[in-house]
Amino acid sequence: MTEREQELIRLAEDEVEKNKEVVESDTYRLRYHLMPPVGLLNDPNGFIQWNGTYHLFYQWMPFKTGHGAKFWGHYSSEDLVTWKHEPIALAPSEWFEKNGCYSGSAVEHDGKMVLFYTGNVKDADGNRETYQCMAFSEDGVTFDKKGPVVELPEGYTAHFRDPKVWKKGADWYMVVGAQSESLTGKVALLKSSDLKEWQHLGAIAGSGMNGLGDFGYMWECPDLFELDGVDVLVASPQGLEAEGMKYQNVYQAGYFVGELDYASATFDHGDFVELDRGFEFYAPQTTLDGKGRRLMVGWMGVPEQDEDKHPTIAHKWVHALTLPRELKWVDGKLLQVPVEELALMRKDQLVKKIDLQLSGDGIELEIRESKAFEMSLSFKDDVASFEMDLSDTIRLIFDASERVFSLRRKSFVTGEWECRSCSLQELSELRAYVDFSSVEVFLNSGEEVFTARIFPDGHAAGMVTVSGDGTVGEMEVWKIEPE
Ligand code: FRU
Repeated sequence: MTEREQELIRLAEDEVEKNKEVVESDTYRLRYHLMPPVGLLNDPNGFIQWNGTYHLFYQWMPFKTGHGAKFWGHYSSEDLVTWKHEPIALAPSEWFEKNGCYSGSAVEHDGKMVLFYTGNVKDADGNRETYQCMAFSEDGVTFDKKGPVVELPEGYTAHFRDPKVWKKGADWYMVVGAQSESLTGKVALLKSSDLKEWQHLGAIAGSGMNGLGDFGYMWECPDLFELDGVDVLVASPQGLEAEGMKYQNVYQAGYFVGELDYASATFDHGDFVELDRGFEFYAPQTTLDGKGRRLMVGWMGVPEQDEDKHPTIAHKWVHALTLPRELKWVDGKLLQVPVEELALMRKDQLVKKIDLQLSGDGIELEIRESKAFEMSLSFKDDVASFEMDLSDTIRLIFDASERVFSLRRKSFVTGEWECRSCSLQELSELRAYVDFSSVEVFLNSGEEVFTARIFPDGHAAGMVTVSGDGTVGEMEVWKIEPE
């Protein structure tokens, strides 16, 4: 480790220590989501199960609640439920990363954990350079930097970042988020036989490609994987215009389903579909775990979307990661299901109701004391409408005649109600995870998901009423208390 690296790590650790009390005294601190110990967290990075243990890194700015020269923070877990905060993995100490160890991924090779990340470099005039860098770990805790392994290929601007690496047959492949010289968003594909020498095969997807038309000026954080017989490309495009219920956030995160032809480096794909219909979701990353599951975690935030207005900033921290979701490809649909291990967090059952008749009068549930809970509802097919009010901050609304599901939220900026919606043929099931200042709602076994941060007033937190027209077949609520 260089002296500069030691110094940066010491400064970051001091920052954590110095602000511990003010951060931890925040009533909006989450109980069962991963957060920064101080400062700003953004993308999940390096998600991997290595030697049996899950590792999840995150983009971290320790010194302020804004963006800048990022570190890689590090959590590990045996079961995806109880997480241990590990020592800082990467600090932006070297010339090739001096303005940030930006996003990247992890693979296992020869028993080692190998990280790939973007070394972000800016000169005094703000001109950028980008290096895709490699680092190794023998113990999963300390990382040995090997420096840049990929220089910027021709045809792209320096907005070329976020390498995601995987193995196919005997070779390694890498997708990188990119911007072409004509300022369109792209995903570049590279290939290597030894993880050190990389060959650029070309752009496989992007604005103006594969029948897509105009589709943004930059694509960030790509991920490409096989799922139950199809290839899925996940990406976070920037520069899409809002279109009806779609693309309402400042930037989007979604996927294309298709087939990657490795020999010709072409990806034939269908439409772009947003992964999450809520307010805060971006830059997700997946990994394949030992049980053969494709797991995904996202950033519960969106770049430049009122990031500086989050109430937690008064307590010197901002943002969190989503819960881990398992991805499945079933009958032509991508489903996102909260991982089954989350059930380990259930403590007391607070509510159990069978055949609950909905009416115009709201039924209040007795979970007022709890601000961290899971709820699960299954609906009979007579449901014409459903509404759930949560902590006087969120309203979940289904209208069967319109076939639309909406999440309304009291804006933490203006206090006005704001809305995100998607079409939904029917509502058969709803599962929600509420955690002090966040909510994740899964509909119909993960067919649609809405993620949002919420900042309820103390007295209203945990207050839940349901109303509507039809029958809730079963409703259960559990208090959540992680160990
Ligand atoms: C996405 C992103 C990435 C970049 C990282 C920097 O949120 O902009 O493209 O690597 O964040 O923190």
